[in-house]
Amino acid sequence: MKKKWLDLAARHGTPLFLLDHDVIRGNYRTFKKHLPRVQCYYAVKANSNPEIVKTLFEEGASFDVASYNEFMQVYEYIRHFKEKDQEFFIWDKIIFSNTIKDRDTLRKIKRYRPLVTYDNLDEVLKIRDHCKSAGLVLRLKVPDVGSQVEMGSKFGCEPGDAMKLIRKAADAGLKVEGISFHVGSQCTHFDNYTSALAITSDIFHDARKKGFDLNLIDIGGGFPVPYDEQAPRFEKLAGLLNAEFDRLFPDDIEIIAEPGRFMVATAATLISEIIGKARRDGKVFYHINDGVYHTFSGVVYDHWIPNFRAVRRGRPEVCAVVGPTCDSFDKITLSAHLPANLKIGDLLITDNIGAYSTASSTRFNGFDGAVILHLDGDRPRA
Ligand SMILES: Cc1ncc(COP(=O)(O)O)c(C=O)c1O
Repeated sequence: MKKKWLDLAARHGTPLFLLDHDVIRGNYRTFKKHLPRVQCYYAVKANSNPEIVKTLFEEGASFDVASYNEFMQVYEYIRHFKEKDQEFFIWDKIIFSNTIKDRDTLRKIKRYRPLVTYDNLDEVLKIRDHCKSAGLVLRLKVPDVGSQVEMGSKFGCEPGDAMKLIRKAADAGLKVEGISFHVGSQCTHFDNYTSALAITSDIFHDARKKGFDLNLIDIGGGFPVPYDEQAPRFEKLAGLLNAEFDRLFPDDIEIIAEPGRFMVATAATLISEIIGKARRDGKVFYHINDGVYHTFSGVVYDHWIPNFRAVRRGRPEVCAVVGPTCDSFDKITLSAHLPANLKIGDLLITDNIGAYSTASSTRFNGFDGAVILHLDGDRPRA
């Protein structure tokens, strides 16, 4: 445990969410280095903190936005651009990856000529009526076996319907730019990516043969984070992907990706504090000042299993760690391994908590949630 972190917790209070922008920059550069053919669109949903968007904007990243508000968060940084440069940035560096967009959003983004995904005929008609300027990317349903969060049950058309949907979009006077997929978040079965690329390649070549001028593939997110030692290495996945890109696709196409978790998960550490201790049915329950309605919301929405370390040392025992609210659902884990002798006021540390955590935190029961402290390495940000 870095002593500096403890000093910060003493100074700023807990729960304290330490967000290291040097790590975000490092993750972005690792991604670019190992996937040189891929344009990297940060999926803002993973953590929409404006400082993160700023850091990645300064690194030259592109952005995957799910809503008009997320779009505007990126737009803030190009507001001062000349109109032509703004238009170019939006076309080249932003994708609306939510396959369903409400009519109001479509009307608002129409003036920007956005790139948007779709996966059904009603969406085609809606885009035709409210945002004719858009470029379209067809989202496929692909295998997401074993991924921490599966996507196929809510998004993507059946591969067998893809040609029909490409044709329908063209008939509606819209331009289909390419094909996308998402293999599920925290994808540790790399076969999902190879299957998805094979399915995409078949449709892509078939569409080109039939005269549709597709020029982009979007491999979505899913890039795994080393939450534990069993998690497969990103570098290995990148090697596999590069080989498949070269084998399956011509050089003249654009390949883009929408990594969220990979950019931010490892950049944050949470320091929480034990505020109560009780023995329930023979097991020690530590009540801490953060929970599933707050920074640990990923336990619910992201199917994430958090890790805990204690600052105090001692013989480990199985215990429960639960949140501060009055809801009995607010249990973070019933099987943590923590020293047996922890006391009220002791601090707990949770690593790799940067993705899908503060992004979905609420103020339930009147608790504010963690203070976010931005760092550049060991230094607090100016
Ligand atoms: C369309 C889309 N793209 C990208 C992402 C980011 O995925 P990940 O965090 O697994 O990289 C998500 C996550 O929900 C998504 O829905």
